[in-house]
Amino acid sequence: MATLAAPPSHGQTLATSTKLLIDNQWVPSLSGKTFATINPATGQELAQIAEAEAADVDRAVRSARNAFERGPWRRTPATERGRLLNKLADLLEKHADEMALLESLDNGMPLSIARAVDLPLTIAQFRYFAGWADKNHGKTIPINGDYFCFTRHEAVGVCGQITPWNFPLLMYGMKLPPALAMGNTVVLKPAEQTPLTALRLGELILEAGFPPGVVNILPGFGHTAGAAIAQHMDVDKVAFTGSTEVGHLILRAAGASNMKRVSLELGGKSPNIVFADANMEQAIEGCHFGLFLNQGQVCCAGSRLYVEESAYDEFVEKSVARAQRRTVGDPLDPTTEQGPQIDSTQFEKVLSYIELGQAEGAKLLCGGGRAGEQGYFIQPTVFTDVQDDMRIAREEIFGPVMSIIKFRDIEEVIERANDTAYGLAAGVWTRDIGKAHAIANNVRAGTIWVNCFDVFDAAAPFGGFKQSGMGREMGEYALQQYTEVKTVTMKL
Ligand code: NAI
Ligand code: MG
Repeated sequence: MATLAAPPSHGQTLATSTKLLIDNQWVPSLSGKTFATINPATGQELAQIAEAEAADVDRAVRSARNAFERGPWRRTPATERGRLLNKLADLLEKHADEMALLESLDNGMPLSIARAVDLPLTIAQFRYFAGWADKNHGKTIPINGDYFCFTRHEAVGVCGQITPWNFPLLMYGMKLPPALAMGNTVVLKPAEQTPLTALRLGELILEAGFPPGVVNILPGFGHTAGAAIAQHMDVDKVAFTGSTEVGHLILRAAGASNMKRVSLELGGKSPNIVFADANMEQAIEGCHFGLFLNQGQVCCAGSRLYVEESAYDEFVEKSVARAQRRTVGDPLDPTTEQGPQIDSTQFEKVLSYIELGQAEGAKLLCGGGRAGEQGYFIQPTVFTDVQDDMRIAREEIFGPVMSIIKFRDIEEVIERANDTAYGLAAGVWTRDIGKAHAIANNVRAGTIWVNCFDVFDAAAPFGGFKQSGMGREMGEYALQQYTEVKTVTMKL
């Protein structure tokens, strides 16, 4: 991985090829296969990436198992695990500019967002869970009879972690720290579209001094490396973020193999509800942000935007004007708000939803097509007159496409907001505290934002109701995903 040591600049190819991190060694894949990762702003290749398949997963799982059962990790005190996580946070801080640049080149997100949002929240999670390493302990329980009963919170074991491309570093921040803090070992498969920051993180993990086998990093494809992790008989737990479709496959693979623990953070179609009494300027900007952030490639994007009838026309007019002002272009330009979609597949998918929306009878008020001549840029797009049963209002588009929907009263909007297979997040904009509570209590979603959107904190849990997933990441609740409870009963 020495090839990435020098921070690349714009338009530069990152050089030759990378390796897999297994047992603290950088090794080629057993097949010798590689694949390209590209810069979505230009369509050009950034590097050739060693491609892990099932045999490499086997090797990594053996190393992770050894580190967990027999290696030094088992004997590493909790305080030392916390110290290592803090050390890794220090290294991420030291290399934050380089990491942000790498993320922006590989993913296309504006560099300013990578630096101001992704890096700080990723680092915060390493520090937050470092603090938990020596604080998650059991209870003593006064059971009937002459016994002493207590619980231990033990590590689950070897954890497979499969992540998507939309916020690569943030995903490692959500998954690695709680796993490591609780004493687990990890086989991480980053998304094939964005492997670079995972590999650089691997270098920092070695520098921090984690023992061999504790973290293994294997770029590769979902149907090969990812499926091998999900099916593996010696993986105790799998944590997945990505599409609901693959979430079903992961659950099925876990059930058909060794009943490994599963946590899932999947898709969404989050309602964002604007009442006429809201501070309209804040609501318009907040809803714009809550939809267009990261090119719309956000699992909790407020993509069903319900606006109360009496405020609808004003809201539409100002939201369209705001979308037209949105700056789309070079992710490395500090004035850029929106970069390219991740790849040609997503680019085509989003454009086909825009066509579909028009065919379904929604009114296209701005955008609707490609932006620029190269790369995968799409114009900020706004639809009005969207109906609940249109596919653009039901399916996850994962792009810069806003759908504005009219509603009349609160009972009706709650029912419509809940009429979905998803339940990841929801927003409400109002000055009426009664309405805010009614939405917060009755909309079935894992996160509710009131007069704000996409506010994340390492301490605040995040995850989905219904088909948006199972389990919570971030915050204290995440510890449950990485611990087993053991009950010990002693006769006195
Ligand atoms: P995906 O779910 O296929 O990919 C996510 C991760 O899962 C990647 O690491 C991939 O290699 C892996 N994977 C794929 N198939 C697998 C399998 N059979 N077994 C194990 N791992 C597997 O998502 P994709 O194709 O990149 O995007 C498709 C749609 O999913 C997007 O358009 C968007 O709607 C949604 N999505 C949601 C995300 C979220 O944050 N919840 C993130 C990325 C995509
Ligand atoms: Mg890439």
